[in-house]
Formats: sequence, structure tokens, C-alpha cells
Amino acid sequence: MTAFPRVRPRRLRTTPAMRGLVRETRLDPGQLIAPVFVREDIAAPVPISSMPGQFQFDLDSLRRYAARCAEAGLGGIDLFGVPGTRDATGSAALAAEGILNRGIAAVREEVGDALVVIADTCLDEFTDHGHCGVLDEEGRVDNDATLELYAQMALAQARAGTHMVSPSGMMDGQVGVIRDALDAEGFEEVAILAYSAKYASAFYGPFREAVASTLRGDRRSYQQDPANLREGVREALLDVEEGADIVMVKPALSSLDVIAAVAAVSPVPVAAYQVSGEYAMVEAAAERGWIAREAVIEETLTAIRRAGADLILSYWALEVAEGRLSTP
Ligand code: PBG
Repeated sequence: MTAFPRVRPRRLRTTPAMRGLVRETRLDPGQLIAPVFVREDIAAPVPISSMPGQFQFDLDSLRRYAARCAEAGLGGIDLFGVPGTRDATGSAALAAEGILNRGIAAVREEVGDALVVIADTCLDEFTDHGHCGVLDEEGRVDNDATLELYAQMALAQARAGTHMVSPSGMMDGQVGVIRDALDAEGFEEVAILAYSAKYASAFYGPFREAVASTLRGDRRSYQQDPANLREGVREALLDVEEGADIVMVKPALSSLDVIAAVAAVSPVPVAAYQVSGEYAMVEAAAERGWIAREAVIEETLTAIRRAGADLILSYWALEVAEGRLSTP
């Protein structure tokens, strides 16, 4: 009898211990970041209907959530603000008493350095028109006028105590302008998580509910065309040149090729954002009993890491870190 086949990859799949021994990709809570929403003028958490299990927090419940994240060994928390009032220039984003800056201060007071506290540095939650920047007379998003506001916003966040700012508006030059502003005010240690390859994606739908977005139209004149890979790599390299400490690709699951391409050339860590629509799809299908919820969550996160993401922003971060997902 000839021993055929001689090569049997199945040998390494025989038992759970064997599979564990040769597993190439693992999820470490220290590499996960929880995106959270802090809302003005509420006294208790408000559920986000298109993101079951996620909430807009008031300042007290935000503190408790952040404490849990720290306790669970999560890497970080990323704060988004939902202000009570909005205007054309998003002035509540810059005010020390604005809800996002108050949220940053509250979380820092609660967790100190146990978590990396990250702030979203973008105007869309604060403008009455819902765009990520200010508009010119023709109603177009004015790149350079917006940069000045991003610099001020980043400074306000640094003063509130954030460890990291994260410009997500896709304005040209945003990383460089923010780096210069931070350095000029003595915030050399505040890091920049750059949304580098951020696509104009329909997967952000539920997030718009989460922040009560007023946007009409779309963001295609500043966010990238999902058809483009090369452009995503170019954006990431530009952000590195401008001083980004971490570059990010977003959304995650529909951009695994972009994550891989950026990871292949990036000299800095690569993050991926598993966005609201990715979360909502899995939760909705699981609710109908059509997929095995926890296995799918684990599989998506693992795939994003395997593609090359060093860290992941995910609405499931705390659940994973608390070990509430059962490992297959
Ligand atoms: C904009 C921003 C968005 C998200 C994160 N930052 C929305 C957008 O670009 O329209 C989406 C995140 C998600 O869908 O989970 N500041």
C-alpha cells in the first residue's frame, strides 16, 4: 500500500489543543477599542435602536462603562459626542464645556491611564448641516477653513485630557495641521489616530442614528470611493508623512484588501474600524436565528486581524474583552 497522501494538513486540525497550538491569529482585548457615544441633556442611557445593545450615555453611565472597559483589559475607548445644540461651524466641538470634551474629562478622571482615551476629531456631530467641515458660499465643504477648526478641536480635546485624537473628516492635510497645533501648545505626547482610508460607505447608516445626524446628501466629495484601493494606500502614506501615529482603514470587513495593502507598507500600526452597519447586520441576522451570533462575531474580528489590522475598533469590544464570547 502506498501511503498517499503523504502530506496531510488535517493532522494539525485533529483536536482543539492542536488547533490552538498552530492558530496564527488571536484576539487580545488589549488591541480592541470600544467606540462610545456621550449625549448631552439625558439622565440615563438611551438605547440605539439600529444597534441593539449599544447606548447613548449620559456622563455618569459613561464613567461606569469606561470603568468596565478598563476592568476588562480593553485597550482603549473612543468617544463621540451628541450635543444638545448644533450650528453652522460646530462650535460645541471646540468649547471646553461641550459634551464631548466633558466626556473626555470624565473618563480620564474615572480611568486615569488604564485605558487609552481617544476622541473623535470631526465636526459632523456638531454642525447643523451634518457635514464633517464648514461650508463655503456654494455649500461645498471648505477644506482649509475646516482645518483651522480641527486644530482648535484637537487642542480642546487635549486640554480635556485625551491621550489620542482621531481626525475622521478626510480633509486634506488634517493630520499635519493637528500635529503642529498640538506641538505648539506643549501636547507632544498626544497621539494621532488617523482615519486614513475612510470610504464613503453605506455601512455607516446606524451610526447616523446613534449621533442623530442631520446630514442630507452624502460625503462623496471628501470620503473615498469604495472602488479605490491604490488611493487608500496613498492616503495612509500621506498621513504617516504628516505625523500620524496610527493609520486606520474603515469600514473593516468590506475593506480587508485595503487593510492588507496598507499593512504591507505602513511603518506605523494599522487600525481597522468595524463600523455600525457591520454590527447591525450581524445582530439582525442573529436575532432571526439565521446565523450563530458569537461565532460570526469572532470570525469577523479574526478576519480583520488576519488581514493585517493590529488594532480594531468594534462595538463588540467590551463583550469580547469580558470573555462573554465562547471560543469555538
Ligand atoms: C464621522 C464618523 C462616522 C463614523 C465614524 N466617524 C460617520 C460618517 O462618516 O458618516 C461611522 C462609524 C460607524 O458607522 O460605526 N465623524
